[in-house]
Amino acid sequence: MVQKPIIALDFPDRESAEQFLYHFKDEQLFVKVGMELFYREGSSFINWLKSQGHHIFLDLKLHDIPNTVYSAMKVLAILGVDMVNVHSAGGYKMMEYALKGLKEGTPEGMKRPKLIAVTQLTSTSEEQMQREQLIDRELKDSVLHYAKLAFAAGLDGVVCSALEAGEISEVTNQEFLKVTPGIRMVGDNSHDQTRIVTPSDARKLGSSHIVVGRSITQADEPLQGYERVKLEWELR
Ligand code: C5P
Repeated sequence: MVQKPIIALDFPDRESAEQFLYHFKDEQLFVKVGMELFYREGSSFINWLKSQGHHIFLDLKLHDIPNTVYSAMKVLAILGVDMVNVHSAGGYKMMEYALKGLKEGTPEGMKRPKLIAVTQLTSTSEEQMQREQLIDRELKDSVLHYAKLAFAAGLDGVVCSALEAGEISEVTNQEFLKVTPGIRMVGDNSHDQTRIVTPSDARKLGSSHIVVGRSITQADEPLQGYERVKLEWELR
C-alpha cells in the first residue's frame, strides 16, 4: 500500500499548525510533529490531531542510555502515534530497548508505533563526521552501517535520502522503511536542502515514505500543493 506523503508540521505553536490544517478539512493526513511543536504543545495537541483522524509521525529523535529510552518509549506508546524515532548512534542495545518500551507500552488493541532510526544527520558533512566523530570512513559507509545496526536491532526502518534507499534495501530488505525528506517538485525552491529529489524519483529509488515540509506548508494554496505531491508520489 502506498503511504500518504507525510507533511512536516514545522510550526512554532498549535495555533499556526491548526490554521494550516484548516486547508485540509476533509482530508485525513499523515503529519510529522517535531520537537518544537511537541515541546510547546505536548500530548493534548497529539490527541487533537488524532481526533481529527490524522496519522502522526512524532519526530523526537531519542538518544540516551537504553533504560531511559525504554521508559520514554513506554510513555510515548500510550499516545497512539503511528511512528517514532531514535538516533542509531545510541547503539544496538538502546534501539532494542526502545522497541521493547514501545511493545510494552502500547495499550491492548492498539497498533505499536513504527520505530525508525536516524543514521547520520544530513547536516553532518563527511569531513565533520571524520573530524568530530573520529570515523575514518566515507559518510555513506556510516549510514549503511547504522541502517544495518537498526535492522539487526529489530527496528522498522530509517530516515534517509532517497539517493540512499536502494543501497539500504540491499543491506537490509525491501520492507525495511525508508522515510525520505528533502523532497521538492520540479521548479520548487530548494531552501536549505542540498540533495533534493522529486516525489516520483523518490518512489523509483525505493523510498517507502516521503516527508514534505515547505513545498506544502509555504505554498500559496497548501491543498493544491499537497495534491500535486500526492499525485506524483502515487503514480507508478
Ligand atoms: O521543508 P522541508 O520539506 O525541507 O522539510 C523537511 C522536514 O524533514 C523538516 O521537518 C526537517 O527537519 C526534516 N528532516 C530533513 N532531513 C533529515 C531529517 C529530517 O529535512 N535528514
